[in-house]
Amino acid sequence: MYDVERIRRDFPILGREVNGQPLVYLDNGASAQKPQVVIDAVMRAYSHEYSNVHRGLHYLSNLATEKYEAVRGTIARFLNAGAAEEIVMNSGTTEGINTVAYAWAMPRMEAGDEIVLSVMEHHANIVPWHFLRERQGVVLKWVDVDETGALPPERVLDAIGPRTRLIAVTHLSNVLGTRVDVKSICRGAQEKGVPVLVDGSQGAVHMPVDVQDIGCDFYAITGHKLYGPSGSGAVYIRKERQAEMRPFMGGGDMIRDVKKDEITWADPPMKFEAGTPGIVQQIGLGVALDYLMDLGLENVARHEARLCDYVRSRIDGLNWLNVQGTTPDKAAIFSFTLNGAAHAHDISTVLDKKGVAVRAGHHCAAPLMERYGITASARASFGLYNTEAEVDALVDALELCQDLFG
Ligand code: ALA
Repeated sequence: MYDVERIRRDFPILGREVNGQPLVYLDNGASAQKPQVVIDAVMRAYSHEYSNVHRGLHYLSNLATEKYEAVRGTIARFLNAGAAEEIVMNSGTTEGINTVAYAWAMPRMEAGDEIVLSVMEHHANIVPWHFLRERQGVVLKWVDVDETGALPPERVLDAIGPRTRLIAVTHLSNVLGTRVDVKSICRGAQEKGVPVLVDGSQGAVHMPVDVQDIGCDFYAITGHKLYGPSGSGAVYIRKERQAEMRPFMGGGDMIRDVKKDEITWADPPMKFEAGTPGIVQQIGLGVALDYLMDLGLENVARHEARLCDYVRSRIDGLNWLNVQGTTPDKAAIFSFTLNGAAHAHDISTVLDKKGVAVRAGHHCAAPLMERYGITASARASFGLYNTEAEVDALVDALELCQDLFG
């Protein structure tokens, strides 16, 4: 039985007030709060177990290395990767996608080659591909969502042409909550010999992920949305793709040997992890993923689906509220505008006065905003600790907005 009240007690920040009101934290899409076990792990790592990794032979360095490297296995388990070596640890999805762009895509793409993207990608899965467009003449092919915000796999597959070298697509939209059938995309793309990168920044938070079942080549995750520390994360890179990659960042730890006129690389994944990594952040991420796996990703997903249904039941009759993204199986991420003059920033300010934290703006998804003909929206994004009472608090605060601005 999923006891949300007990789970909430694991997150100390949820007990605080904001603007004299109990905190209602609905900005999980931007970053999630941390359970005490993660906070304790970070404290313990710094106060008892800290040293650099992969370098010293002394007790603390060995201990820190052991703890850090164990996280690679935890992430592999979390994503069901075939081997821990397929996990490149990093600071989050942005670094993961940039690694693929610089280390895999740049050296192999030429002017006129194509990358297929959806219009609902986050800037982290757009801007690195723009670098290739600007610098190498790579063509970006955009696939539109339908009127509900869905991305039918055949639309993506139909965009594949003879020059398509990569599909880069989100698993779950950070704005619309749309889930993407990445498995069908991967199956179709594989038949045409096109690799697929999945931005799992939001997807891995809201549903169990099995990269082998999905059949993707790259899958990027970010730790701070997974209830872990900021600056933690990883990208799964399938073995065959690793073999095609040149190193991206140069520095310590990613080499086998450095001479004055010659250099040889370490084997993957170290080949893609230059310099001192986010040691403590990754250790915290490992604990966060264990916490999530103990709760059960299916249980979390079921809880969030119930919340999503409840939000829908509460807002269905509100004809002054425009929600972007209405797919039946969407995740509990609700972006909206109000009829009338209220700007998203004004809405979020009023909500904040009621203790309700939401994000307002373009959500790092400017092409999607353009697609919907808006410049900004407010977004309530739910997580594993949110409750129906918090949905009520959100709706009460929205009704106040409508009274003020409607
Ligand atoms: N990608 C994060 C969001 O959607 C920051 O808010």
